[in-house]
Amino acid sequence: MIDQVTIDRVVETAQGQIVDVVSEFVSLKKRGSNYLGHCPFHNEKTPSFIVSPYRGIFKCFGCGKGGNAVHFLMEHEQISFVEAIKHLGQKFNIPVEEKDVSPELMQVKNERESMMVATSFAQKFFERSLFETDEGQSIGLSYFRNRGFRDDIIKKFQLGYSPEQRDAFTQEALKNSFKIEFLEKTGLTIVKDDYKADRFRGRVMFPIHNLTGKAIAFGGRILKTDAKTAKYLNSPESEIYHKSRILYGIYQAKQEIVREDKCYLVEGYTDVISMHQAGITNVVASSGTALTQDQIRLIARFTPNITVLYDGDPAGIKASLRGIDLILEEGMNVKVMLLPNGEDPDSFSRKMNAEELRSYIRKNETDFIKFKTSLLLEDAKNDPIKRATLIQDIVRTISTIPEPITRSVYVKECSVLLNVGEDVLYSELAKIKQQKIEQYNKTGYKPIDISNTPKQLIANSFTTQNPFEIEEREVLRYLVRYGNYPLQFGENDSITISVGEFIVNELKQDDLQSTNEIHNRLLELFANAHNKGLITTSSDRFFINHQDFEVSQLATDLISKPYQLSKIHHKFGTVKKEEDALPEIVPKVVLELKNKKVMSIIDENHKKIKIAQDNRNDEELLSLMKEHQKWLNIKKELANLLGNRIIVK
Ligand code: CTP
Ligand code: MN
Repeated sequence: MIDQVTIDRVVETAQGQIVDVVSEFVSLKKRGSNYLGHCPFHNEKTPSFIVSPYRGIFKCFGCGKGGNAVHFLMEHEQISFVEAIKHLGQKFNIPVEEKDVSPELMQVKNERESMMVATSFAQKFFERSLFETDEGQSIGLSYFRNRGFRDDIIKKFQLGYSPEQRDAFTQEALKNSFKIEFLEKTGLTIVKDDYKADRFRGRVMFPIHNLTGKAIAFGGRILKTDAKTAKYLNSPESEIYHKSRILYGIYQAKQEIVREDKCYLVEGYTDVISMHQAGITNVVASSGTALTQDQIRLIARFTPNITVLYDGDPAGIKASLRGIDLILEEGMNVKVMLLPNGEDPDSFSRKMNAEELRSYIRKNETDFIKFKTSLLLEDAKNDPIKRATLIQDIVRTISTIPEPITRSVYVKECSVLLNVGEDVLYSELAKIKQQKIEQYNKTGYKPIDISNTPKQLIANSFTTQNPFEIEEREVLRYLVRYGNYPLQFGENDSITISVGEFIVNELKQDDLQSTNEIHNRLLELFANAHNKGLITTSSDRFFINHQDFEVSQLATDLISKPYQLSKIHHKFGTVKKEEDALPEIVPKVVLELKNKKVMSIIDENHKKIKIAQDNRNDEELLSLMKEHQKWLNIKKELANLLGNRIIVK
C-alpha cells in the first residue's frame, strides 16, 4: 500500500506537469492553450490527440481515450496504477514507499526482489561480455552480426554472451556480494556441494523480460554446431519466472499490439527479433513451450486479435492445431498464416521491408477454422472414415467458441467447405455439448448454457441503448464541471447548496437510476466524497484524477467535448457566462432529464392502454387511465417549471 497523501502528491504534481509526462512518448506542438500530437493509442494521419496543461488532461478525439497523466502512463506503458505512481514518483523526485506489508509478504517480496536484482545483474554482465570482451566480440557478437542482427536490435533486446569459463559469471556475482542462494534460485548457478558452475557457458544469451521490462530469465543458444547439448538452454522455473505465464518479446511488443490491435505469434527468440528488425514490433513468441491459457490471456489484455505465423511444415502445423483451439476458447479471433515452404518468420522477414511484410500477411492470413478445415480436407480427400473424423474434429473446434452468434457463422461456412448440411453439423454440436455436460456433471460443476438462448434475446443484449443518454450526460457534465459551485435559491438567496448536491438530491428524490452503471457510479462517488468532505478543490479534478479509469475517462470526455449548446442554454449562452447562469441552467438540465423520463412513461402507458382497450379489460383500463392522468399532471407541472426561469422545490 502506498499512503494516500503520497498518491495525492504524485497525482497532483503529474497533473500539473502532464505535458512533460506525455512528451516523453508523444511529440507535441503548442496550439493555443493546448498541445496537439498524433495519438499513440491508435493509428492516425492527422493529429487529434490533445493535451490540456490547464486542465491536466489528455484526450484523443479520434479514439476517445482520455484521462490524467497517471492514466496516460497506465495506458501507454500498460502498467498498473501502483506502477505508474512509482514511475512518476521517480520522475518528480517524490519518494514513494509501500507500507503496511506483512512480515511474511515482506520476506517473499524481498526474496523475489533479490532474485530480480541477481537476474538483472546477470543480464548486464552478459551484455558487457558481449560488447567489451575479446571472447564475446569474436564469438558472440560476430555470430549475431553474421546472422544479420543489427546493433540497435541487439541492444534493444539486451542480447549478451556468457563466456566459456566454468564459473565466470558466478565469480563475478559473488565478488559483487550477491548471495549464492539467489544465484541458485534463479538457476544462474548450479550448486553441488562445493562445486559451483554457471548454467550458461559459451552461449549467446537472450534475456526474457517481464511486462515492465525487467529481465527475469534467459535463453542461451549454443554456438558449436557439433554439440550434443540442446541448441537452446533455458532458465528453470522460479519464483520470478513462470514460463507458462510469460511470452518472449511482450515488453517490447505491448505498445504496438495495442496500437495495431493485433498480435503476431511466432515460435521463438530469433523470429521475434528478426521481425522487429524488419519493422514489425507487435510480435511475441511462446518460446519452446506449447501455448498456454495464461499466455493467451496475457495477449488478451492488449488485443483480442491473434495471427499465428506458421512454418510450412505440415507435421508441425498439425501438432499445434490443439493449441490454437485454446485461443478460440478464450473468445479471441484467430487467424493463421502459412509461410512458404522452408521459411520461418526469421528467414522470411529478412526478405522484405515492413510494409511488404505487413501486406503479405494481410493478404495471406486466413481464418483459423477455415484453414484447419481445408488443411484436414486435403488429407481426407475421398476417404469416408477420415471425413467423418474430420467433421467431428472441426465441430469440436467450433464448439469451443464461447459466442453463439460466431458459432453459427462458422457452422454456415464449414457446411459449405465440407459439403455437409448445417443440420448435420448442428446435431454433431449437440452431441459434443451433451458429452461436455455429462463430463461436467461428473465433476459436479454445472456450466451455464447460453447456446439455447433465443437469438432475439442475445441481439437485444447487444443493443440495449439508453434512451436518456444525452440528458443524463448533460446532467453529469454539470456535476463534473461545477460540482462544487454554490447555488443560491429562495428569497434573498437564503438557501445555498452545491451544484453536485443539488443534482444528487434531485435524482435520488425521484429514484432516477440510470441504465448506464457508470452514470450511477459517478453520482454515488460524488455523494460519498462530498459527505466525507473529500472534494476540497474543483470537482473536475476529483473525477479526472479518480483511480477508476472508467470514471476518469467519462469525466474527461464530458468536460472536453466542446459542449453542444442545447435549447436549454440558448437563452443564457449569449447573455451570461455559463458559470454565472448555473442557478438557472442546472435545475433546467435536471428537469429536462425528468421530463424525458416522464414522456417515456406516458408513452409506455399509452401502449398498455391500447392493449387493455383491445382486450376489453375494463378494470385494467380504469386503473391505467388513473395512472395516465397522474403522469399527465406531472408532465404539465414540469412544463410549467421548464417554462419558468427560477425553480425552487
Ligand atoms: N527453440 C528452442 N529450443 C530449441 C530449438 C528452438 O527454444 N531446442 C526456439 C528458439 O526460440 C528459436 C526458435 O525456436 O529462436 C527457432 O528455432 P531454430 O530455427 O532451430 O533456432 P535458430 O537459433 O534460429 O537456429 P538456426 O540458426 O539453426 O535456424
Ligand atoms: Mn532458425
